[in-house]
Amino acid sequence: ANLVLDQLAPLLRGAKRLVVLTGAGISAESGLATFRDAMTGLWANFRAEELATPEAFEQNPKLVWDWYVWRRKLAQAAKPNGAHFALVELERLVPQLTIVTQNVDGLHQRAGSAGVIELHGSLSRFKCSTDNEPVDAKDFGDSPDGMPPRCPRCHAFVRPDIVWFGEMLPPSALQTAFQVTKKCDLFFSIGTSGVVEPAASLPRRAIEYGASVMINNLDVDTASEPPLYSLQGKAGTILPELLRRAWPRL
Ligand code: APR
Repeated sequence: ANLVLDQLAPLLRGAKRLVVLTGAGISAESGLATFRDAMTGLWANFRAEELATPEAFEQNPKLVWDWYVWRRKLAQAAKPNGAHFALVELERLVPQLTIVTQNVDGLHQRAGSAGVIELHGSLSRFKCSTDNEPVDAKDFGDSPDGMPPRCPRCHAFVRPDIVWFGEMLPPSALQTAFQVTKKCDLFFSIGTSGVVEPAASLPRRAIEYGASVMINNLDVDTASEPPLYSLQGKAGTILPELLRRAWPRL
């Protein structure tokens, strides 16, 4: 990893427009399980693909609502880790840094990152399951029968403002993600297995538009085939180390 880190350090130091795509792996060291890890606890016999769908919510609104109550509690109890904080530090050091995240845990914002593009929504936001208009959490209490709360406007169930499998991503977020990817000179993909589209196509787009790309997760082999670099290892170790090499005086 040292050789690749030493090759990436000058690219990072000289970067003008950096885009960082993040996935569940950047929050793993905060204790939040990734999707591809088995679901834990009482959700062990479920798969995200079965619960995070409009059909599941239609068939069993209480089960899906309870799953998100559980995930929201875990996310609220979790703390940003060294990888999140390294990106906050990078925001100060690179002229333009844009974080595009698939995560819904809000840890980038909690660490202090600004302008985070949330491709898949957020556990802290809710909307009406009929018209998709935002519903403020203070406008609905816990429902007595454990069912999802009701929309104060039309009385339909409230649902998480999260993109479910088979649903469209928020158009403005997706458009901005493609625009910044087109213009960046350096693109990092951190902690994502790169299997869910359209996020998965961003690194390839970055290469097509002439950027250098670094992919960090636990599955890749550390290698450098410019303009593509891959670093196997924990983001909480890799990102702070990369910053130290790029700005040794700090
Ligand atoms: N540091 C870096 N990478 C890590 C770490 C870590 N400490 N721990 C795990 N990883 C990597 C794994 O190697 C894997 O490549 O994080 C990745 C996690 O992949 P997934 O679980 O597939 O998560 P993600 O890529 O974010 O999933 C994308 O799929 O389930 C849907 O909408 C959901 O946003 C999610 C999307």
